[in-house]
Amino acid sequence: MALKKQKSKSPSALITGVTGQDGSYLADFLLSRGYKVFGTVRRNSTENFERIEHIKNRMELVEVDLLDQMSILTALKKTRPREVYNLAAQSFVPTSWEQPILTGQFTALGVTRMLEGIREIDRSIRFYQASSSEMFGKVQTVPQNETTPFYPRSPYGVAKVYGHFITVNYRESYNLFAVAGILFNHESPRRGKEFVTRKVTDAVARIKMGLQKELRLGNMDAKRDWGYAGDYVRAMWMMLQQKKPLDYVIATGVSHSVKDLIRIAFAHAGLDWKKYVRIDPRLIRPAEVEHLLGDPGKARRGLKWKPEVSFEKMIKMMVDADLKRVQAEERNKEFLKS
Ligand code: NAP
Ligand code: GDD
Repeated sequence: MALKKQKSKSPSALITGVTGQDGSYLADFLLSRGYKVFGTVRRNSTENFERIEHIKNRMELVEVDLLDQMSILTALKKTRPREVYNLAAQSFVPTSWEQPILTGQFTALGVTRMLEGIREIDRSIRFYQASSSEMFGKVQTVPQNETTPFYPRSPYGVAKVYGHFITVNYRESYNLFAVAGILFNHESPRRGKEFVTRKVTDAVARIKMGLQKELRLGNMDAKRDWGYAGDYVRAMWMMLQQKKPLDYVIATGVSHSVKDLIRIAFAHAGLDWKKYVRIDPRLIRPAEVEHLLGDPGKARRGLKWKPEVSFEKMIKMMVDADLKRVQAEERNKEFLKS
């Protein structure tokens, strides 16, 4: 679909999880297309608006917790969006073994709370659910597409399968325009530092600056189909502009190992990774997803979507951004000392 600017009265969208990686990129994208954007935030004792600092004055923030049905109803009533993107979730896989019940409450039942809110307030809302390639887990076919059976390997993956099928079920039961994007891993300089790509690029920057001596990692043989978050939020929007509500796999169709990631990131900073990287058995997961590889054929044909940023370019972009940030932090510390 050609990305033409909308002509009529500006459309509106509510994004849950706007303070997260994808929420912030999606807000950037929708604002650039003339949308009125509402973003949901949780009440915190300290603000965590780092990723939306540059746009927070151009959108409206509303307090919502996916655990709290009333807050969802109030937000929908107050904002009356045309589109809802449900990106909020407990999204870190290892935490889902530490907090399996809470992960289920946020990541699984939170979706039903959103769908019930839509059913109650306005059934014409178009709803996007952030499904995940983690649902394929112990993969049943290679590559994975929209018809590949799910075999999740973590409480997070299990919760996402619930969120996926409740979206399909509400579409079929209540005729809602509700779709699920099955997104493979996507990264950026705004990625949380606990995820492996950012953990590596942040460490590279700190090692380069002499602030860190080693990097401890878990399974370096795991393979992922890694894409760039900026490309993936565009696909979310495209899914909600279609005539028919359909689910799509969003992926690059190429996979790399954690070792490939390490090699590219360290080499970009002129470092020999073998001097710094150590395996830490404590970081090995109770059940691992060894290899994910997506088939984005349906999205390419149906949405005319394709990724624009390659894996290598993205990792270099992340290393550069982390180097710049760490250098600025160090300069700031020096300035404060003087
Ligand atoms: P992220 O950076 O971890 O952001 C998660 C967001 O959810 C944050 O804004 C967080 O708010 C919010 N949140 C968590 N629990 C909440 C609750 N109970 N109520 C309200 N908000 C809550 O995740 P992301 O990488 O942007 O991913 C976005 C979505 O896509 C997630 O659903 C994730 O599971 C899914 N997904 C991600 C990928 C990927 O590779 N990135 C791939 C497939 C699917 P706080 O800032 O207050 O913590
Ligand atoms: N986080 C992390 N930290 N992962 C490591 C480490 C480490 O120190 N060492 C090796 N890995 C391996 C993990 O075992 C996994 O196989 C791979 O690196 C990727 O881990 P993450 O970056 O944490 O991502 P994920 O694949 O578990 O989950 C992400 O992608 C899913 C889509 O498939 C998250 O964004 C999920 O929310 C998302 O649904």
